[in-house]
Amino acid sequence: MKFRIPASSANLGPGFDCFGIAWQCYNEIEFLSRPEGLVISGCDEKYCNEQNLAFKAYRAAMTWAGQRESGLEIRFGRTDIPVSRGMGSSAALIVGGVMAANALNGLELSGDELLAIATSVEGHPDNIAPALFGGFTVSAMYGFSAVTTHFPISDKLFFTLLIPDFELSTELARSVLPETVSRQDAIFNISRSALLIKALEKGDRLLMRIALEDKLHQPYRTKLIAGFDTAEAAAKKLGAMGICISGAGSTLLCISDSPSFTGEMESELKVTLPGWKVLGVKPDLEGVKVI
Ligand code: HSE
Repeated sequence: MKFRIPASSANLGPGFDCFGIAWQCYNEIEFLSRPEGLVISGCDEKYCNEQNLAFKAYRAAMTWAGQRESGLEIRFGRTDIPVSRGMGSSAALIVGGVMAANALNGLELSGDELLAIATSVEGHPDNIAPALFGGFTVSAMYGFSAVTTHFPISDKLFFTLLIPDFELSTELARSVLPETVSRQDAIFNISRSALLIKALEKGDRLLMRIALEDKLHQPYRTKLIAGFDTAEAAAKKLGAMGICISGAGSTLLCISDSPSFTGEMESELKVTLPGWKVLGVKPDLEGVKVI
């Protein structure tokens, strides 16, 4: 059984560990039952073992359902989501794994259960929810489980991912964050994350500019992204409504109301940040799907 799983951008500025949008940019993974053992192909040899996240997620779902683990073959196909760039590549593997366990073994897990299992493997639900369900999701941890809900995205908006030519591990990007934040910074983010829901629904320029601001993670992470200042200046010059880090980075996400923004940004970065890839993306509204 073959699955197509969307890329996603988590956080979206102020919605740290909660907000995420799925993109029409996909990985494809095929899962097949075997009498015994694990066989993985189509990815780097160092991931062809039980540490592979797709397998870990498969195993987590089997354990959750109290099922004995069967043999499994995992074939990686088209891989458009770059690794360690803040575009939800880990979540895509995990979502593929839990979906496969469910489908191949008739586990009949509900959407809430799939979300809970996948979130327990990833650690936070912000990429998992959009990869599973598509669209713009806002998620919260609730005990060991997670709840998620959808909000609309205006079709006046255009999204552009600026993908650097270097990886940034989530572990490193989380290690630079402070353990505690001031009340002032908490208020700053609560207010903006609520405004961002409306800004994404309406495509309102002024609201978006303010709503994408963040004090919880971006001020600490931008210094890990060489070229951030150049990319931000280019986005402002070309009239973006705002720019934020996609997930933990290194990718940046620009939100614009101009259909020509992606092309203009591509021409600009070709000169100033030549190793970076510029990718216009549309929201994916379906989430993971059998193909
Ligand atoms: N919310 C997470 C972070 C996303 O920013 O660290 C990366 O998995």
